[in-house]
Amino acid sequence: MSSLADKLVPPAVEKLIPYQSARRIARQTGNTGHLWLNANELESCCQYGDIDGGKNAHYNRYPDFLPHDIAADYQRYCEQQLDGALSLSTEIIAVRGADEAIDLIVRTFCQPGHDQILICPPTYGMYEFCADAFAVNTAIVPLLDTFQLNVDAIKKQLPQTSVVFLCSPNNPTGNVLHQNDLMDLLEASKNTSLVVVDEAYIEFAPHTSAVHLMATYPHLIVIRTLSKAFGLAAIRVGFLLADSSVMSYISRLVAPYPIADPSAEIAQKALSERGILQMNQQTERLIEVRDWFIEALSSLPIVQTIYDSSTNFVLVRFRGQTNMYDYLISQGIVARSPANESSVEGCVRISIGSKASMVEVFEALKHFTE
Ligand SMILES: Cc1ncc(COP(=O)(O)O)c(C=O)c1O
Repeated sequence: MSSLADKLVPPAVEKLIPYQSARRIARQTGNTGHLWLNANELESCCQYGDIDGGKNAHYNRYPDFLPHDIAADYQRYCEQQLDGALSLSTEIIAVRGADEAIDLIVRTFCQPGHDQILICPPTYGMYEFCADAFAVNTAIVPLLDTFQLNVDAIKKQLPQTSVVFLCSPNNPTGNVLHQNDLMDLLEASKNTSLVVVDEAYIEFAPHTSAVHLMATYPHLIVIRTLSKAFGLAAIRVGFLLADSSVMSYISRLVAPYPIADPSAEIAQKALSERGILQMNQQTERLIEVRDWFIEALSSLPIVQTIYDSSTNFVLVRFRGQTNMYDYLISQGIVARSPANESSVEGCVRISIGSKASMVEVFEALKHFTE
């Protein structure tokens, strides 16, 4: 029986044979030997072998073509978070950050000049950017005033939409999307559109994850990252979770050797039991600082609204016409003003740092005078 992915995949991807890298051929054929002369690598990395105490002695070799070890570790982490097994048909691949996952999904399921994605701003900018860069149209259905989904308006667009990109907890608003709305949308989109939930910030509200819905809705794709709660933005590792019917197409477009060995090694440590425990403790501390900061800000007359946050940032609306982003810059504090989005115009998004950093931001705002 053909799946929604079979129906949506453009002809070029349907007939694409994955690039046959040396590692992929060796893994697929099971061929092995004592001399590996198949990838035009050097046989040793003698000139750098003493860097890092010799631990990098294998860096002369290309990495695994799809790093299975960290995907398996990530599956264990998801199942721990879920307190249950992932559905048997759910597959996980490691990618170079959640951003690469977004790009892969657009390039796998949208044909330039032909297909459309749908986004619900204010939201993360990369969905539209990736679509624009690939000449794919973007339908826009803004979030409601509550920053929740306008489900009826999205439903009207589904017949023309290949992929719906949602973000929960959402950047830049910080809130979690209602699960009922998501389920309503998943029901309505079963035969028309893939639904992506970007869960980059999920560790700050783990009980809200959509992963448990993947067993019922094979057209649901979940994106994750080690860049946020795990604190590993520099290593560029994220994960894409999808049903095998969807992954069989996405994996054709994955770069030959996507994850560099040093990144895979660090990711494996982060996903060990000890790494996960540390991440959880760090997340708890961050939430304490965030909640202190929100309470402190709410006492300031210049603050109009502090939006609920299930993330490691807060979105703040200030009274009056002053550009608080510029004011903070004048104090040496670099925050973010959300891009041209009328519903958050004049707001400032502030990442949560250490308690000392947040005290400094609070003091700067307290001493603001027009
Ligand atoms: C919602 C969302 N998705 C994805 C990303 C990108 O994550 P990564 O660093 O894993 O590419 C970000 C980064 O800010 C984000 O806010």
